[in-house]
Amino acid sequence: MSKLAILGGRPVRAKSKSWVSWPMAHPDDAKTLARISKSERWSYDGPYEWRFAEAFTKYQGAKYGLCCSNGTVGIQLALEALGIGAYDEVIVPGMTWQATAAACLDINAIPILTDIEPDTWCLDLDAMEANITRRTKAVIVVHLYGCMTDLTRLKRMCKKHGLFLIEDCAHQHGSFWKGQGVGSIGDVSSWSFQETKTLSSGEGGFNMCRTRDLFYKLYSLRNCGRPYEADPPVFGLKKPAGIGTALQSGNFRITEMQAALLLGGLKRLDGEVKLRDGNARYLNGLLAEIPGILPMRRRREITQQGYFNFAFRIDPKELNVTNTAFCDALNAELRCGDAFEAPYDPLHQCDLYKPLTKKRHKLDRDYWKAINPKRFKLPVCEEANQRAGIVVHHQMLMNRRADMNDVAAAVRKVVDNIDAVRKLKPGTRKKYQALAH
Ligand SMILES: Cc1ncc(COP(=O)(O)O)c(C=O)c1O
Repeated sequence: MSKLAILGGRPVRAKSKSWVSWPMAHPDDAKTLARISKSERWSYDGPYEWRFAEAFTKYQGAKYGLCCSNGTVGIQLALEALGIGAYDEVIVPGMTWQATAAACLDINAIPILTDIEPDTWCLDLDAMEANITRRTKAVIVVHLYGCMTDLTRLKRMCKKHGLFLIEDCAHQHGSFWKGQGVGSIGDVSSWSFQETKTLSSGEGGFNMCRTRDLFYKLYSLRNCGRPYEADPPVFGLKKPAGIGTALQSGNFRITEMQAALLLGGLKRLDGEVKLRDGNARYLNGLLAEIPGILPMRRRREITQQGYFNFAFRIDPKELNVTNTAFCDALNAELRCGDAFEAPYDPLHQCDLYKPLTKKRHKLDRDYWKAINPKRFKLPVCEEANQRAGIVVHHQMLMNRRADMNDVAAAVRKVVDNIDAVRKLKPGTRKKYQALAH
């Protein structure tokens, strides 16, 4: 058995090999950016913005879509367009980026943190049903990392209980459920184009929706309350009669430079999603053969799976080791910095989700109590974050098939040396970092 790299052994990954990095620069994008910088149109309903909006909406198979400033704002605008507000309850998965819940607080709603499925880390629909009350108005489903919950059942449940369905698609540009694009399944969807995302403009966001009325509302909400003027006309829409759709709001627009980067990225998106999806399936096949390693569940209804992160689980009972110690050993084998890590902190234990630190959340005592994250029990989220879960950014899946063999070989080596991993002392990680780079 060869010695672990973290303890001074030879790493699985040869020093001469590099990993693909993200985001990637493309010369055509640079030319477009230079052209825009010389034009007199840098923002506000510009040609690049609407060309992108129509093309991305079509790709995901939705009816209407428009850009906004980021994926946090996208969720906030989705909630407001649906008429959700103070004291309304919104079901949110307990393990997601904090923005999903924080956007609910921003409109004075109450995020109801709900546990997740152990094998997809997406919303557990039984837990969700148990959390529905008279006050529940909407569910935000997060298509997390590279998995989905049962969207057919979720839609049925929302219909049965009269709930709006919002899709947080920040992680899954290019995912399809039974051939239907995510983002076109619920009432409204929200997207992020932040730097790490698989379609990116550094920062940026997007909403898709099913009805004309919602589109007009979303337009108005992202543009200081101005009504849609059909200038230029998009999605074949006319100027709505009257200004009844103009709403109180702020500026959540994006720039032409961002839109140009997104148009460039959209041309490459489907090919990149297919590359990641193919590598993920291959890697999952290899991981499934390693004792104590549990690949994530891929539902058979998924026709194309986008990946923000690739994830897998270790069986804590079989391996009796923490995910963080496992990641330290794995990162050393693959000479990839801190690429493998634990998934998101559960929101009731998350340092970046602190609803009780904002005075404007103090609507009254009941509201203050209702938004306290500590009142929620999320054992499956805790297990994923503290014991079983391991994730790595999607750029790992953009390497070649042969590189996936390295990943699997490194996982196998760590498993083979699990006794040594169990005994790793804090601080060993620092030492190996010097070795690995
Ligand atoms: C699941 C999820 N939702 C929402 C967001 C928020 O997007 P943004 O960073 O563009 O505001 C993110 C960002 O990482 C996310 O991962």
